[in-house]
Amino acid sequence: VDVPDVLFIFFGATGDLARRKLYPALYELWRSGELRGRMAVVGVSRRPFDDEAYREFVRKAVNEYRPFALYGEAASSFLERFFFLSADVGKPEETAKLAARIAEVEERFSLSGNRVFYLSIAPQHFAPIAQSLRTSGLLESRGFRRVVIEKPFGWDLRSARELNAALLGAFDERDIYRIDHYLGKAMVQNIAVLRFANLLFEPLWNRHYIAQVEITATETVGVGDRKGYYEAAGALRDMVQNHILQMVAMVAMEPPGRFEPEAIRDEKVKALRSLRIYRPEEVPLFVVRGQYRSGVTLGEAVPGYREEIGNPSSTTETYVAAVLFLENFRWWGVPFLVRTGKRLARKRTDIVIHFHTLPLTVKALSGIEGEELAPNRLILRVQPDEGIFLTFNVRASRSPFQLVPTAMELSRGEAIGFNTPEAYERLLYDVVVGDPTNFTRWDEVEAAWRWVDPIAEFFAAAGEEGLAFYPAGSEGPEEAQRIARRHGLPFTSLV
Ligand code: BG6
Repeated sequence: VDVPDVLFIFFGATGDLARRKLYPALYELWRSGELRGRMAVVGVSRRPFDDEAYREFVRKAVNEYRPFALYGEAASSFLERFFFLSADVGKPEETAKLAARIAEVEERFSLSGNRVFYLSIAPQHFAPIAQSLRTSGLLESRGFRRVVIEKPFGWDLRSARELNAALLGAFDERDIYRIDHYLGKAMVQNIAVLRFANLLFEPLWNRHYIAQVEITATETVGVGDRKGYYEAAGALRDMVQNHILQMVAMVAMEPPGRFEPEAIRDEKVKALRSLRIYRPEEVPLFVVRGQYRSGVTLGEAVPGYREEIGNPSSTTETYVAAVLFLENFRWWGVPFLVRTGKRLARKRTDIVIHFHTLPLTVKALSGIEGEELAPNRLILRVQPDEGIFLTFNVRASRSPFQLVPTAMELSRGEAIGFNTPEAYERLLYDVVVGDPTNFTRWDEVEAAWRWVDPIAEFFAAAGEEGLAFYPAGSEGPEEAQRIARRHGLPFTSLV
């Protein structure tokens, strides 16, 4: 692939995301050679930084998340490419200053006018920035112009539409890269390969052989420093509307006719559109929400959510479990169990495919009483460690007719840490080379909100009623198992 040169314009350049994810990822791309000598950055935020202070900020960020990585010639040539503009984003007079900085940096490094505008800021700024970028002429460079948007993409379907309309006033859909960083995770990208490149799995991937799909994305952390955002969003908007539904789509989609970005996204959107949408009164049958109380996570006593955010009557959910159904031929009747939450027993993201159980012939012939025959399970572990496992039944060595389920490790990635920037490395690279496959297209966002909206409405109307409290460090509320059992097998234990 030809990697073009590029200027990144980061709005929210001194924010948490930029610090924790973007700079470490950019440095890796620099160091590995992919963007070496081909990029420069103009950072924008309200902080009264100059270029030097900004470079120091970037240096610290990289060092914190990639200890000992930043040294030598690569480090200094990297940092020299960072420039800062202290400005209140979205104001027309400030945009003129931005234009001047962009021109200066592009000229200094003889860049070809390819620009990536990265909006790592609160969503209320998206529309005004898009607007002022357009009127300022900054989108009329010689090269490409792309915009990268962090979530939340809207608050519900209506606000998402408004936001999208505002963006489309400045950018073409094909230039809008809506980040879902789960789509940058190696094992999530592996789902399609596993399914479509392996005869062992492809023919089994449907309701005839699969009894249930289980998707877990749990965390041990609390809400950290994003209290205001999280209190308004809750787990449903924060994790389910995007990451969880994207994983559902990857597992459920039909094989694309070609392995091309739009063909793949066409199939994903079809999967999302086939989700059965629950009417508000049905929500309690399929969805459970919870909130953590104080408890102990990873050996440390932690306060409850309400104490943490200082709102004793908050009804924001920090946990959601749901049973989803896709109303199409492939998945008719197969429950997709999903769960996500904060302050749970483990950080874990995985996808478990539970195959149907075989008739108990072996057991019947042997005449041995005992456990039920365990179904085969395929486990895709996304994090913290990566791996693919398959469980199957073998004869126990001592007792000839006793079967034991065994786990076979099909492949294992090297252990990766929590919140590593690897996903961002892949995604930033994709933006530069213009590959939108692992970004969310507008119609996917729309389909996801259609499913989420009535549930969010129900939550808002129910207030504290139906909110299941769970101690921090636990497996989440017991009610989740109740809805799981009603529709299928219980959730797999996290510990
Ligand atoms: C983000 C959510 O999108 O994903 C956070 O806003 C969450 O609340 C994070 O902690 C989890 O990401 P990861 O990569 O650590 O699983």
